[in-house]
Amino acid sequence: MFNSATVADTSRRQCLQTLGVAVATGLWSGHGAKAAAGVTTIRFSHVVAEDTPKGLAAERFRALVNERSGGRIQVQVYPRAHLYGDHDEMQALQLGAVEMLAPSLSKFGRIGFPEFELFDLPYLFPDVASVRRITQGALGQRMLERLMRQRLVGLGFMDNGFKHMSANRPLLAPEHFVGLRMRVQASRVIAAQMRALGARPVTLAFSETRRALAARVVDGTENPISNFWTQRMHEVQTDFSLTQHAYLGYAVVANQRFWSSLGRSDRELVATALQEALQFGNQVADLQNDKALKALREAGTTRIHQPDEGQLSRMRAAVAPVHSELAQRIGPQWLTDARAVLAA
Ligand code: LMR
Repeated sequence: MFNSATVADTSRRQCLQTLGVAVATGLWSGHGAKAAAGVTTIRFSHVVAEDTPKGLAAERFRALVNERSGGRIQVQVYPRAHLYGDHDEMQALQLGAVEMLAPSLSKFGRIGFPEFELFDLPYLFPDVASVRRITQGALGQRMLERLMRQRLVGLGFMDNGFKHMSANRPLLAPEHFVGLRMRVQASRVIAAQMRALGARPVTLAFSETRRALAARVVDGTENPISNFWTQRMHEVQTDFSLTQHAYLGYAVVANQRFWSSLGRSDRELVATALQEALQFGNQVADLQNDKALKALREAGTTRIHQPDEGQLSRMRAAVAPVHSELAQRIGPQWLTDARAVLAA
């Protein structure tokens, strides 16, 4: 079972290699599919399920663009890593094999933007409102603008919510993590967080995580409840601990050549529809996570635990050194600026 993911990933990688050759030899225009009939297609790929905050925002974006352009611009949404997954989606975007993505902020560090990993710092944000003071402010805008260095156009941020821990045992205090292999996204901050708790971080693509949990390749993971529930991880994890230890959110990015190939009014139409879709996604994010928690309680497959104050303060103390250890990677100035916004 687990191997089939690897096979799928290999074949996708082969596709990208072929695509790379096509680009190099000039066989691929790289401009979002502009069909003879004058229809522009925007392929929007993401890795989560349709009924998650991101899935719902992508669907809203699709509907708004298709309607407002009278069908001239067609957004095609590819959820659940059907087209590309964590290993290859950024490359696919840069090569023009898709036009838009919405990766989690944790996935920008490895492509040269480690400042995005500041959002992964455990217990940095008390609530989503404080995250938004960065994402919806001048600092967030500066972060999006820097993406241009990799030919990505940063179009906006969106929340999912706060992450919790799961495994086949409660994870409420640092001693519960010792020796566990915990699946993480490709973020050094998250890896350091798991190490600080005594666990071993294992980087895996999101689309491989459930299979890896089922096959006991890893023992546990972290995610907001909407992702845990819609990936049916509750069928392979007996315990879900409401640690609310760190944030998970997204940045929507477009291929730069595609973006500049759009006429000015189409660009405005797409950008406006996207802002509305992201606002909608933010509005439903809490709701989706609450619904998933309710469904999880009703399913009865997984025990749900709430850490007490003592356990929470030991968790905080265990991961506190991650902030200073990773400051150099994230960029001290980014951290100073973020802390200034949060303190203001
Ligand atoms: C993960 O890999 O755990 C998340 O980034 C998935 C997502 O996009 O919400």
